[in-house]
Amino acid sequence: MSVERLSIGIPELDSMLAGGIPAGFTVAVTGEPGTGKTVLCIHFIAEGIREGDKCVYVTTEESRESIIVQASQFGFDFSKSIRENNLVLIDALMGLKDKWSLQSLDVEELVDKVIQAKKALGYGRARLVIDSLSAFWLDKPAMSRRHSYFVKKVLSKWGFTTLVTSQYAITTSEAFGWGVEHIADGIIRFRRSVKGGVLRRYILIEKMRQTPHSLKMYEVEIIDGRGLVIRGSVDMRKEDIALPRHVMNRIRKASQKRDAEIP
Ligand SMILES: Nc1ncnc2c1ncn2[C@@H]1O[C@H](COP(=O)(O)OP(=O)(O)O)[C@@H](O)[C@H]1O
Ligand SMILES: [Mg+2]
Repeated sequence: MSVERLSIGIPELDSMLAGGIPAGFTVAVTGEPGTGKTVLCIHFIAEGIREGDKCVYVTTEESRESIIVQASQFGFDFSKSIRENNLVLIDALMGLKDKWSLQSLDVEELVDKVIQAKKALGYGRARLVIDSLSAFWLDKPAMSRRHSYFVKKVLSKWGFTTLVTSQYAITTSEAFGWGVEHIADGIIRFRRSVKGGVLRRYILIEKMRQTPHSLKMYEVEIIDGRGLVIRGSVDMRKEDIALPRHVMNRIRKASQKRDAEIP
């Protein structure tokens, strides 16, 4: 049986995924701040718009305006897509009172709003981004498992193919709370390193069900006017991206403690 795949709109990344993300999947996009998660999500939505999909983008880390400006820097006119009713950009940051804002980081409100957006956009293949999903349980990490299952279960009925981003702490590289990776059909992981005094970014597909995906880590660049560009694969030693030993020990202790708290 052949699998329907949704292109991300970055040709090299699509080929790493044997054509794209299987329809209906929930894929976790993880990595430290500034590594390219939001930029990747913007490409996924822009490609959806280009293909005539119904698109919903939930932003918790930046304002709606900020996403529109960022998209415009890569040549995507999200304002136009909103006007033409191909895109709903739900703002969970600003506490705005308009129709497409969330008043709080509450998963039930999130799910309701996404369903309303899908109804407003009408029938058709749909793409959803939740950037970030981990923001919804920042202050209650013990609830993250239950919440992630709830979001996945309810939204899967609405036919979305979904990217959810997950934040990692800068100092520990550890997911806040129980990572959304556990419920994901796929995991796209960004990494970073400073080599020769220069920040470098990398992408690795750690998991994609039903997909003979690339197992290599690739260097990526974010380029003005273009967005995310995949460079060559890298042959990195673990030490190149590993954290200092005392930091790793702290992470291990913190995650053991957290696991003990999960109901
Ligand atoms: N117009 C641009 N030209 C070049 N680089 C950009 C541009 N816009 C954003 N970037 C790069 O993208 C980074 C932000 O990436 P982003 O996807 O928002 O990170 P995150 O993983 O935190 O979501 C910035 O720190 C900058 O390096
Ligand atoms: Mg981001």
